[in-house]
Amino acid sequence: MEERVYRLVVMISGFGSNLQAILDACAEGRLPARVVLVVSNRKDAYGLVRAQRAGVPTLYFPFKPYRDRGLDRTAYDRDLAERIAPYHPDLIVLAGWMHILSSAFLDRFPGRVINLHPALPHMFPGMNAIQQAFEAYQRGQIEYSGCMVHIVTPEVDEGPVLAQAIVPIFPHDTLETFEERMHQTEHRLIIEGIIRALRTCLETPTDPAR
Ligand code: GRF
Repeated sequence: MEERVYRLVVMISGFGSNLQAILDACAEGRLPARVVLVVSNRKDAYGLVRAQRAGVPTLYFPFKPYRDRGLDRTAYDRDLAERIAPYHPDLIVLAGWMHILSSAFLDRFPGRVINLHPALPHMFPGMNAIQQAFEAYQRGQIEYSGCMVHIVTPEVDEGPVLAQAIVPIFPHDTLETFEERMHQTEHRLIIEGIIRALRTCLETPTDPAR
């Protein structure tokens, strides 16, 4: 990887522990990158506090005003992309971002939006994946779960996988202990996924639209 500091935009909706893992990895030199903007669609997302503490600009951009005006996701996604573009991100990282992004957003940053999902490829797409996996284990349908980082495509939680890891489930686990193990693994995997994506970025010519 060439000596360059990559520009990351991180999008969150909640606690932001994965954002923290990214901020820490940047600060400790484990990631040749800088978080240039943190976006949240929820005002009370604790991740916004983490960003402010790290001196990173934040953008709160909710969907509700669009819905209230009878506008659909396409209008929201297009405007959101418009707000992010001036930050010239090399990579946009969805780290607990709870809003499905359409082509109106993704086409603006082709191949440069990645997502962290707490399940293995093609298993438990969408919401509550951790709980779904835990319940499937209880029913004897799976023996383990995992998490992955993938390039975002319009299909929810699909798209080329950049990194994945198995997360075991044990008979004595509660949902909470399993969840904790999942998050520990995610905090490591998100960094691995970003590094993999940045390497890919280097091989892809920069989109002139950016
Ligand atoms: C993570 O489990 C992520 O995989 C999921 O939402 C959670 C976000 O956690 N999509 P945090 O906000 O990073 O703590």
